[in-house]
Amino acid sequence: MIDQKPITITCKTGKEFQLIPIGPENAEQFLDFMHQVSSDTHFMSRYGDEVKQDDAAVQAEKNRLTTFQEDDKQAMLSIFDGNIIIGNVAIRCVTKHRKTAHRCSIGLGVRKEYHGLGLGTILVEQAIDFAKASGYKSMELGVLSDNIPAQGLYKKMGFTEWGNLPEAFILDDGTVIDEITMYRKL
Ligand SMILES: CC(C)(COP(=O)(O)OP(=O)(O)OC[C@H]1O[C@@H](n2cnc3c(N)ncnc32)[C@H](O)[C@@H]1OP(=O)(O)O)[C@@H](O)C(=O)NCCC(=O)NCCS
Repeated sequence: MIDQKPITITCKTGKEFQLIPIGPENAEQFLDFMHQVSSDTHFMSRYGDEVKQDDAAVQAEKNRLTTFQEDDKQAMLSIFDGNIIIGNVAIRCVTKHRKTAHRCSIGLGVRKEYHGLGLGTILVEQAIDFAKASGYKSMELGVLSDNIPAQGLYKKMGFTEWGNLPEAFILDDGTVIDEITMYRKL
C-alpha cells in the first residue's frame, strides 16, 4: 500500500485511538473483529459462524493481508483500542483493467460497543483520503436495504444511491433483503 503511517484519531467523547494500516501480523486480531461484528448483526456479508479462526483460516488471512500490504492501491485500515481492532475499512480496486481501474469499493464495520462515537465517519473519511491519494476517481459500495444507520452514514459522506439489487440476501430465517448500491465521486 502507499506510505500510510499510523495516526491518532479522536472520537466524539474525546478518547483517542490509533488508526493503523494492518498487515499479516494482525490476522488473528482481524478475524476476531470480523467474527464479532458478523455475529452481532446481519448487516455484514457473512454470518459470524462463517468467519473461521482456526490455523488454516489465520494463514489464509495472513496471505490476504499480505496482498493488501503489497498493493499500492488497496488497504485495510483498522482502528485499535489497545491491542484490539474495534473498527475497520477495506479499500479495494474494483478491477485492475484499465477501463475500470479508476473505481474502488469499500466495506466497513465497527464493534457495537463503539457505535455512535464517530468512528464510522472517520473510517469513511480515511478511506476517501486513501482513495484520492491512490488516484481513484470514484468509490462504490453495497449496503443491505434495511441497514438504515449505514445508509445515513454514507449519505452524510456524500454517497448517492444508484441501484437496488432485489433479493441479494436471504437470511437463515428466510427473510429476503435487497442490496442498495451507492456511489461517490472523488
Ligand atoms: C454502520 C456503522 C459502521 C456506523 O459506525 P458508527 O461508528 O456507529 O458511525 P458514526 O458514529 O461515525 O456515525 C453514525 C452516522 O450514521 C448515521 N446514522 C446513525 N444512526 C442512524 C439512523 N438510525 N438513521 C439514519 N442515520 C443514522 C448518521 O449519519 C451518523 O452520523 P452523525 O452522528 O454525524 O449524525 C456501524 O453501525 C456498524 O459497524 N454496523 C454494523 C456493520 C455494518 O452495518 N457495516 C456496514 C455494512 S454496509
